[in-house]
Amino acid sequence: MRTKAAVVGLALAISAGMLSACIWTKPSNESASSPRERILLDDGWRFMKYEDAADADGLVYDIRPDHSEHQDDKAADAKPTEAVTVHGGSNVLRPWILPMANPFIADPAQHYAAPASMPPHGDFPFIQAEFDDRNWQTVSVPHDWAIQGPFYEGDKAPVGGGMGRLPSPGVGWYRKQIMLTEADAGKSLFLDIDGAMSYAMVWFNGHLVGGWPYGYASWRVDLTPYAEIGKPNQIAIRVDNPPASSRWYPGGGLYRNVWLEKTQPVHVAQWGTNIVVSAADEQEATVRLSVALNNQSPAAASVQVETDVFELNEQDEPVGAAVAKVGPISTDVEGKGAATVDSRFRVINPKLWGPRPTQTPNRYVAITKVVAQGKVVDEYRTPFGIRTIEIDPNLGVLVNGEPIYLQGVNQHHDLGALGAAFNVRAAQRQLELLQEMGTNAIRLAHNPPARELLTLTDKMGFLVIDEVFDSWQRKKTPLDFHLIFDDWSEADLRSMIRRDRNHPSVFMWSVGNEVGEQYTDTDGAKVGQRLHDIAHSEDPTRPTAASMNYAKAHMPFPETMDTISLNYQGEGIRDAEAYAHLNGIRTPPSYPQFHKAFPGKAIFSSENAAAVSSRGEYLFPVARGISAPVADGKGGDPTSAQVSAYELYTAPFGSSADKVFRSLAQHPYVAGGFVWSGWDYLGEPTPYYSARSSYFGVIDLAGFKKDRFYLYQAHWRPDYPMAHILPHWNWPDRVGKVTPVHVFTSGDEAELFVNGKSQGRKQKGDLEYRLRWDDVVYQPGEVSVVAYKNGEEWATDSVVTTGEPAGLTLTVDRAGIQADGKDLAFVTATVVDANGRMVPTAKPALTFTVSGAGELVATDNGDATDLVAFPSAKRSAFNGLALAIVRAKPGSTGTINVTVAGENLSSAMIDLNSKK
Ligand code: GAL
Repeated sequence: MRTKAAVVGLALAISAGMLSACIWTKPSNESASSPRERILLDDGWRFMKYEDAADADGLVYDIRPDHSEHQDDKAADAKPTEAVTVHGGSNVLRPWILPMANPFIADPAQHYAAPASMPPHGDFPFIQAEFDDRNWQTVSVPHDWAIQGPFYEGDKAPVGGGMGRLPSPGVGWYRKQIMLTEADAGKSLFLDIDGAMSYAMVWFNGHLVGGWPYGYASWRVDLTPYAEIGKPNQIAIRVDNPPASSRWYPGGGLYRNVWLEKTQPVHVAQWGTNIVVSAADEQEATVRLSVALNNQSPAAASVQVETDVFELNEQDEPVGAAVAKVGPISTDVEGKGAATVDSRFRVINPKLWGPRPTQTPNRYVAITKVVAQGKVVDEYRTPFGIRTIEIDPNLGVLVNGEPIYLQGVNQHHDLGALGAAFNVRAAQRQLELLQEMGTNAIRLAHNPPARELLTLTDKMGFLVIDEVFDSWQRKKTPLDFHLIFDDWSEADLRSMIRRDRNHPSVFMWSVGNEVGEQYTDTDGAKVGQRLHDIAHSEDPTRPTAASMNYAKAHMPFPETMDTISLNYQGEGIRDAEAYAHLNGIRTPPSYPQFHKAFPGKAIFSSENAAAVSSRGEYLFPVARGISAPVADGKGGDPTSAQVSAYELYTAPFGSSADKVFRSLAQHPYVAGGFVWSGWDYLGEPTPYYSARSSYFGVIDLAGFKKDRFYLYQAHWRPDYPMAHILPHWNWPDRVGKVTPVHVFTSGDEAELFVNGKSQGRKQKGDLEYRLRWDDVVYQPGEVSVVAYKNGEEWATDSVVTTGEPAGLTLTVDRAGIQADGKDLAFVTATVVDANGRMVPTAKPALTFTVSGAGELVATDNGDATDLVAFPSAKRSAFNGLALAIVRAKPGSTGTINVTVAGENLSSAMIDLNSKK
């Protein structure tokens, strides 16, 4: 083996000599392609999940406490409780995994020592190359092992509504072989896992090489010591997802990308560049760049580090000539050591990054080369943006000097019917619809996202709060993150910051959400202070937050963070008359107290609203006030488990959009806020836990707009002419009955007509955000509205009583998709009457067929109560609409034919096209 390596080394040296001769005659930025290889390991994984976790192997990370007391439908704002201590047995693997955290623990004295002994279970068959896994399923990564269902039904389900009724808990294995050739000899080899849910541990050629418990973290294991050249090398990953570990659907398995990265022994470290804009305006920017190097070879190296900066286009390609050049800077890196090279550069007339719609999200890329003995040994690209951000206690968030009011939403990580398996196009579609609504900011509730999501927010011009934890030492669910907080919190926080710090969209680090430490006075505050300090030591340029639904201005907790980040309590919790009978946290509007107590800190509303509705469902009578808690018979129908879309109803601790808008307007120093939630998500189906997915979204799980979409659009895009009427006008049982009509418009007044007869012209009063005609008596026909702004006609809308369902129409978001097996087309089926009008109450059973170059991935309809598994080709429409998600078969180009059929309905067909 040793002889062979020496020969290979010689061969490399010869070719390197030839390479440098080539470089010499060419301009430097046309040099040989990067010696760093980043290979996506997406296809060809073998996968097995134990049917029952109780029968799984004993290769556990640690012993867990009993979780039998778990209450699935516990109120989201219930007080978190104390942790239960567990004691690992002698056979657990935790001691061998903990040293993975060391690079992210600042104090060397706190580093975990690797045990001197070999880890147990070294002879376990699944970790051996010889094990025959041909009976296992073949899957592609990103893979969510639970999303295909089936959904668990009923009260006694092993996974209830809180975690989405899907089989996410359990133990599974993934295996894949990689071939390493002579060209790989002497290289450093890493397996980069962007996210594995959860408690993942990796074996390489039979050796335990590492793992990471937190399912939302990105991490790498070093394969180098056990690599075998000229042979297939065996990767085996065990993933163990506990039950009762989450308040929402976590997904399961290797649900984000997995990469094999090959570098020379001297290379830019994992997330090794840090780009900080110290000053910028349109004339000039001053930027600091630091590059961390690692040397895995025992021999010291002398290297030069040079960086060229280019504009970056939409396709992530550098364009034009370099706008800045740094270096070469020489440095020595000790054998098995590390070094950091700090530098500074200027960009003249920079194209600034800023949020839409008032600014443009321009991006740059720093291309860093590491040169040793005249040869480029590494090339590393860092996309970034040039912008300044200030957070002012009175003016709020200023980007490049312009105050940007936060019109934000909270987003969970799942992609509806696609589950947790990350998909760029599905995430982009979520963001596109949010942008259409006027959203300019996203809070990533309550965990680090897929890396690609931040590339999307950078490109599309959103401001982002990157959030790391939903719980600290105190628990919300029996087996949540609190079990590993003490061991892993520093590493999880530092690794998130190092991974995400160069994204211009990220403007704040949130270290926690509604944590139990709010309740424990100075003890809790100490934990907060520690996390704040860690965040600052990694990145002093961005402020910290920890969202508070309980802590008050006089308590120690809010002192610990840079900002005051309030969930619900800004506008008051259970304090309005309609909420007076409810038990739980009760708080008057608390913005003024916080503003007074912390005049130097910016305040924002990290969660507001928690309004609930089912798209297209309208229940009577309608609340007369502007906000009411949902209850059976009051906005909620316990039989159908649907919630009224009059958009007035909320979780017990919530407030309608109208009430939130009013409260924010009354406290102009508040920097804006984040709605709970932008899209519906899997799990947490308050108020009906028989369902599978939430009612909180402004947009439903399938991506169809609820009425609330237009309430936000009216408020957030005041210059965009629009008017929207609710409800629909198909009420055969309500003839002669009072049927309130509400209008959301960016105008300031409107006149409503029923069958041509005016119902009066109304003006929005001070702090009013909808126009309502609550005494309209239903007669079939047409309701129409003419909205005005400043006395001029501004926008119109109408709804008509339709005929019976007669047919279907199909529309698609993009008819042309990439034939890469990943790009998606979202096909909407609309149930129409004989005149082609959507029938808003229609729920016929539909069947989708996809043929030609494509295949059906999943269907949905946005109905939180629909327990038909997502991959099913049979899906009932929900209030007139159903969705089919289609992709090209990998490598197949040409026409994709989608048809939809339903009983007594004329079917419809649409052709899509897939190309390379
Ligand atoms: C909050 C919590 C969110 C979500 C929301 C709606 O209390 O932070 O994660 O649970 O309520 O229920």
